[in-house]
Amino acid sequence: MTPDTTSLTRRGFLLAGAALGAGVLAACTSGVQSNQTTSTPSTATPTPGPSGSGSAGPAAQGEMYGVGIYNTQQVADELVWIDQNIHRAEGKTKHVLITGSTGGLGQLAAAYLMKRGHTVVAHARNAQRAADVRRDLPGLESVVTGDLLDLDQTRALAKQINALGTFDVIIHNAGEYGLPDSQLLRSNSLSPYLLTALVTPPGQLSYLSSDLHMGGRLQLDEVRSGGGISYGDSKLHMAMIATAAARLWPNRHVNAVAPGWVPTRMGFHDGNSTTPDSLREGYMTQVWLAEGVEQGSDVTGEFLFHRRVETRVNDLVHDTSAQDRLLAAYAEQTGVTLS
Ligand SMILES: NC(=O)c1ccc[n+]([C@@H]2O[C@H](COP(=O)([O-])OP(=O)(O)OC[C@H]3O[C@@H](n4cnc5c(N)ncnc54)[C@H](OP(=O)(O)O)[C@@H]3O)[C@@H](O)[C@H]2O)c1
Repeated sequence: MTPDTTSLTRRGFLLAGAALGAGVLAACTSGVQSNQTTSTPSTATPTPGPSGSGSAGPAAQGEMYGVGIYNTQQVADELVWIDQNIHRAEGKTKHVLITGSTGGLGQLAAAYLMKRGHTVVAHARNAQRAADVRRDLPGLESVVTGDLLDLDQTRALAKQINALGTFDVIIHNAGEYGLPDSQLLRSNSLSPYLLTALVTPPGQLSYLSSDLHMGGRLQLDEVRSGGGISYGDSKLHMAMIATAAARLWPNRHVNAVAPGWVPTRMGFHDGNSTTPDSLREGYMTQVWLAEGVEQGSDVTGEFLFHRRVETRVNDLVHDTSAQDRLLAAYAEQTGVTLS
């Protein structure tokens, strides 16, 4: 399926949306078949994994990696595949922070980069989820905690991150779906902005957006007043934080990434048991950018889909005047300026 047809299907599907709840989650993660493609990233050992073959790896059975709780069977299978097939890379190792790395795409990127020899700091919403990710990913340098729904916790999180020194790479991956709109403003828009402005900037940043940003609106009044925004609005904001930061920081590499519609807990949010896109490709763009060694991975100020610049983006993404107005609204709401 092409990105274009995928995005149309995804938008229709997600706009139909339902709240993400425990019962839904159980339905999402039981007895589903992987639709993972076998496309193998050039940085990976070319061995088809359990996700590629559609069969569950033995170590991913049961509750390992939080199957049915915070991960799908597909994510657990992919974590096993990474563990068994990815090996240490030659060259410079990077200091990497990934927000929302207790499950899904963030956890997969963290696992992959660790196996490649990079030093990875995970981020969890609370102490329980921090304990979960320490168990799932032994070898993490550290785990920082903070619920992005609470802006005070986000500010404290920025201090924890800065206390760990300068990072080479930060992947702003965390995201909520299916919550009331005022909560989405905090978790998916204000918090990534605050972390961008308060954390010492690394050389390379990625922001997880979505094809649903295409229907997003600027919503400046909502940002200023702390009102409600849709998921699509929040994913437009993520992309615009990326392009604005790329413009403000010409010596850094900053991009937005759409991962495709993939079988994580979020991807199965309404009980759907199939998704159209490759789970592996859903995290490999972030890995490719983080390592920054392959041709084209030194890009900045772009919106990427599966390691390619996506030309079909909301016009606001590259509108510098709109970026400035959004940054001004963020500064008014948070009292923190991005410069
Ligand atoms: N899956 C898709 O099809 C899809 C499509 C387009 C874009 N995306 C984007 O890709 C990113 C990763 O999504 P995913 O599919 O991997 O989802 P996921 O499996 O639900 O994982 C989301 C991660 O973010 C964390 N998180 C969410 N809200 C948080 C908060 N308030 N404070 C701290 N951590 C929080 C979660 O922590 P907990 O485990 O504690 O909840 C989890 O680690 C998101 O930004 C999402 O919008 C996904």
